[in-house]
Parts: sequence; C-alpha cells; structure tokens
Amino acid sequence: MSSAPLVLGIESSCDETGIAIVRGTEILANEVASSVELHARFGGVVPEVASRAHLEAIVPCLRRAVSASGVTLSDLDAVAVTAGPGLMGALVVGVSAAKVLAGALGKPLYGVNHLVGHVAVDMLDHGPLPSPALALLVSGGHTSLLLVRDITSDIVEIGTTIDDAAGEAYDKVARLLGLPYPGGPVIDELAAAGDPKAIHFPRGLTGRRDLERHRFDFSFSGLKTAVARWVETEQRADHEIPVADVCASFQEAVCDVLTAKSVAAATAYEVRDVVLGGGVAANSRLRGLLEERCATAGLSLRRPNPALCTDNGAMVAVLGAAMVAAGRPPSPITFGADSGLPVETPLVT
Ligand code: KG4
Ligand code: ZN
Repeated sequence: MSSAPLVLGIESSCDETGIAIVRGTEILANEVASSVELHARFGGVVPEVASRAHLEAIVPCLRRAVSASGVTLSDLDAVAVTAGPGLMGALVVGVSAAKVLAGALGKPLYGVNHLVGHVAVDMLDHGPLPSPALALLVSGGHTSLLLVRDITSDIVEIGTTIDDAAGEAYDKVARLLGLPYPGGPVIDELAAAGDPKAIHFPRGLTGRRDLERHRFDFSFSGLKTAVARWVETEQRADHEIPVADVCASFQEAVCDVLTAKSVAAATAYEVRDVVLGGGVAANSRLRGLLEERCATAGLSLRRPNPALCTDNGAMVAVLGAAMVAAGRPPSPITFGADSGLPVETPLVT
C-alpha cells in the first residue's frame, strides 16, 4: 500500500467543473463536466452562465469521481481546490464546495494556484519535476515563462505576455475566421492541411530593440491584428480566404516565438529541463517544434498528456498532493477565491 497522499482536487476557475482523486502522482479518478457548448454561441465564456453550470455540475461530478476512484471520502488525506486565478463567480463555487467538504470530513484544505496546477499536471505522467525547471505556461488567459525551483513554494516569473495570452490569440483569430469557440483545437486541426510558410505574420517582441527590454516577454495582439488586416484585404479584393494556410501561418508565428523564447530562457538561466503546461500545450505544432528545438539545444522536455493540458481536477489534486508531501501547512479556512492570484503564489496561506 502506497503512503503517497490521497487528495481530492476541485477545479472551477473557468468553464470546466473538474473533480479528481489522486494518490501522489497517480490518478484514481478524473471527472470533468464542461459548459463550453453553452458559451460557444457567444464566442467566449459568459461568466454568469459558467457559475450556474458549475453549481449544477459540482455534486454529480463529485459523486462520479468518488465512485470511479474506489476510495471513500473518509480515506482522503486532504482536499485541494483552485483558489485562483479565474472568474470570480466560478471560483467561488469550487472554493465553497471544498470548504464544506473539507470541514465536514475534518480534512486539511489547500487553496492552490490554477496556473501552477497546469505545470504540476505533468507529474501525473512523468513523476516529480526536476529542479530547477523552466516552465512554458500557455493557457487561455496567461502566457508565462517560469523558473520553477520547487512547485510547492518557489516559482519566479521571468517573462509574460504584455497583451493577449497565446490561447486568447487562438480564440480571437478563430473568431475572425468564422470558426467556432474555443479556437485552439480547431485551428490546430485546420493548420495540419495548410502551409505554415504561405503568409509571413509578425513575431511579437523579437526585434533587437524589443529583446533588450522584453527578452522573455510575449505579445500576440499585433499578430492578431496582422491576421485581421490580411483577411480584410483579401476579402476586399474578393479573394477566397485560404483558411488552412492562414491557420498554419498564424500558428507558426505563435509557436516560433513561444519555443524560441523558451529555449533562450532555459539557456540564459542554465536550466536543463523544460516543462510545458496549459491548454495551448495540447497544440500539436507547439509540442513538435518545442521538442525539436529543445533537442537541438541539448535540453530535456516534459510534455503532459494532451488530454490533461486543458482544465481538469487532476492538476489541482496532484498539486495538492505535492503540498501535503512537502509538509506545507494547509490554507486557513478563512481564505477566499482570488481572481487575480499571482502565478508566483502556488498556495494560499
Ligand atoms: O488552460 P485552459 O484550458 O484554460 C485556461 O486556464 O485558460 O486553456 C484554454 C485555452 C483556449 O484558449 C483554447 O483555445 C486553447 O487553450 N487550446 C488550444 C488547443 N487546445 C486548447 N490552443 C491551441 N491548440 C490546441 N490544440
Ligand atoms: Zn487553465
């Protein structure tokens, strides 16, 4: 019998209600209820709709997770929940449920960081993270390079986006091409049939002067505008839009910058291990190009299973289990959801 901590994790920061049970780095159950279809016709997540969907989904999701796991709630060592960042009303549903559950069971409660969970999730596939590690975190709302010395307590952000997140750029470009929300998976698929060299789109913050001030930062808003301008010009000329080529060329611009800056940061900080995380980490081109460039630079790369890259409860549970294993004290029961929780705060104390 393993002595690794048995932890239930609750995720409700955006449009996925996720509840998982892990033992250390092993998944026993991972249930996700998505409200993405309710938002699709609005082209983005509607916060009020998301909160209501979490309220409806959370208890059935909990029941399914417990029954699939083969353990009982009284066996748990702790409960972990996403404390932030995310949509306030959505976070509150998960945090309230976690407080009630932990309180009723008399178990410690860990309010953890959603973004750090996106990095921690890799441990479910590949075991404890090497230290230090350079994490490329690419989600719908965030894009950062992180120096991770200890996933439970020591994370330094060395670069971030100065405007849109990578996932946000995918979603906005999809929208302007008339593609459904969320745009990332659709563009990923369409790009496979397109030519990444068909159109040269700009690589944000890679010019010599930008690199002086923003060496490890990102910018995707100019790229999105460039795609919009290109499409408008073609439409005005009555040309048919080569959607697959636009997708492939846009995706190449995003992945080129993300991977080049990741390798440059790992090299500058003398870190040998790179880890990928966040919803955009499911992207096939990003995974492939990062692998190529890490191999060329002599860096080892860890990529979580694509199915675990988007929001889920397992990423929260595994981070909670790491907190328990590291002997971190639980969060005070009075802690609140924090929609702007900084990525450098893995645990609310
Ligand atoms: O991490 P996540 O599930 O939620 C946030 O915490 O934001 O990320 C969602 C984002 C969306 O913008 C979605 O379009 C993007 O991840 N995404 C992808 C892919 N799958 C999801 N982007 C590019 N390629 C994909 N295959
Ligand atoms: Zn996320």
